[in-house]
Amino acid sequence: MQTETDTQIKSAKEVINDIETLTEKHNKWRKEECINLIASENVTSSAVDNIYISDLGHRYAEGKPFQRHYQGLQYIDQIEDLTQKLARNLFNAKHVDLRPLSGTTANLSALGALTNYGDTIFSSSIPNGGHVSHTRHGVSGLIGIKDLSFPFNIEEMNIDIDKTKKKIEEKQPKVLLFGASLFLFPHPVKEIAEFAKTYDIKIIYDAAHVLGLIAGKRFQDPLKEGAEIITSSTHKTFPGPQSGIIFGNSDKFDKIETVVFPQVICNHHLHKLPAMAVALEEMTTHGQSYANQIITNAKTLAQSMHELGFNVVAEKLGFTESHQVVVDVSNLGGGKTVAEHLESQNIILNKNFIPGDKINTETMRNPRGIRIGTQEMTRMGMKEDEMQEIAKLLKKSLIDKKDIKQEVTDFKKEFLDVKYC
Ligand SMILES: Cc1ncc(COP(=O)(O)O)c(C=O)c1O
Repeated sequence: MQTETDTQIKSAKEVINDIETLTEKHNKWRKEECINLIASENVTSSAVDNIYISDLGHRYAEGKPFQRHYQGLQYIDQIEDLTQKLARNLFNAKHVDLRPLSGTTANLSALGALTNYGDTIFSSSIPNGGHVSHTRHGVSGLIGIKDLSFPFNIEEMNIDIDKTKKKIEEKQPKVLLFGASLFLFPHPVKEIAEFAKTYDIKIIYDAAHVLGLIAGKRFQDPLKEGAEIITSSTHKTFPGPQSGIIFGNSDKFDKIETVVFPQVICNHHLHKLPAMAVALEEMTTHGQSYANQIITNAKTLAQSMHELGFNVVAEKLGFTESHQVVVDVSNLGGGKTVAEHLESQNIILNKNFIPGDKINTETMRNPRGIRIGTQEMTRMGMKEDEMQEIAKLLKKSLIDKKDIKQEVTDFKKEFLDVKYC
C-alpha cells in the first residue's frame, strides 16, 4: 500500500504513471475480464466516448440556452437546445432540464421546488427498494422534509395501493415519490395518481434505474399514468454519460428550473451534452430492441438460477419485469459474503436488502440479498444463451464451490463490443 510519504518522494511523472497504470488495469479488468452485473451501471458506445472529451468541458454556461450569463456559447447553445429537443421527443415531454449532474441533484432540485420545509412526502423505504436520496438520510433530510414510507405488499413485491390511499387520507403528503433502486415491477402510479390529485398532491417519479426501459417503451409510462415530473440518472438502463435529467409536463417546471440553477448547480459540465445527444439518438433508434432484450435476459437469468437451486425472489410473479433479478442468498452466507466471493471470481454485483428486511447493524453489513442487473451485459451483446451460462457459472461458484475465474474471463472475452448503437 502506497503511503502519502511515498507519493511525496515520487516525481510528478512517476505519480502520473502510477495513475495511468491503475486506470489501464481497471479498464482491462472491468471491461475485458469481468461479467458486470451491477444494476446501476452501464457502458457508453464509442460514439458517445469520442465526443465526450472536448473543449466544452473547459467552458461555463450558466443559465438556459440563448439566455446565458457568459459569452462564447454560440455553439453550446445550439448543442444544448438540440439535445433538449431529442430528450423531449424520446420521452414525450413538454419540458426537459439536462443540467442536473446526477440523479441525486435531480431529486434535490425537484423536491426542493415542489415542497416547503416541514412538508411530508411518501417514498419507498430503503429495504423496500427506495434510494437514500428519497429519505431523511439524503435529500429529504437535507431540505427538512419528512419522508414517510409507502406501505408495501411483500406478496406483490410492490407498493400497497389500498393502504397507500388510506395513509394519504391520514397524512396528506405534499408529494408522492415513486421509483426505486430495487425495482422489479412497475409502481402503481396510475392506480394512485387520480386519488392523490384530489388532495392536490404532486407526483414525482424517480426513473434512475428504469429510464432506458421507459425510453424503450418496455416499462410503465409514468407521465401518461399521472406523474408530473420525472427525475433520473442517465447511466443505468439508459446508456448515457453519467449525469442527471428532469422532465415532465408540469406547470411548475419553471420553478424546478430556477432551483436547478442557481440553487443547486451553476455550471452544468457542458461536455456531457453532445455525449447525451448521441446516447439519446442511439436510444431513439435502438431503445425498443435494447429494452426488450434487457428484460428477456433478466427473466431468463432469474428462471435459470431458480432451476439451478437459487432462491430467486418473486417466483410467483415471474421474478421480474425490469432489468433486475433479486436473490436471497442467506443460505450461502449472505449478500456481502456472496458479492465479495464473486468479485474474486470476476463477477461483479452488489449486496442488497430484500423487501421486508429490518435495518440493523448486522443486516446493513451483510443483508440477505444480492441484486443483479442485466443491462450492461445485454449492451455487450449477451442474449438468453449467455444468461443461462451465467446462471451455471454462479451455481458452479456458489453452490458447487468451484473456482470459475478463468472461465469467466474467457467467457467475457467474446463480448467486447458495445451493441445497440
Ligand atoms: C432510484 C435512484 N434514484 C437516484 C439515484 C442516484 O443517482 P446518482 O448516483 O446519479 O446520483 C439512484 C442511484 O443508484 C437510484 O437508484
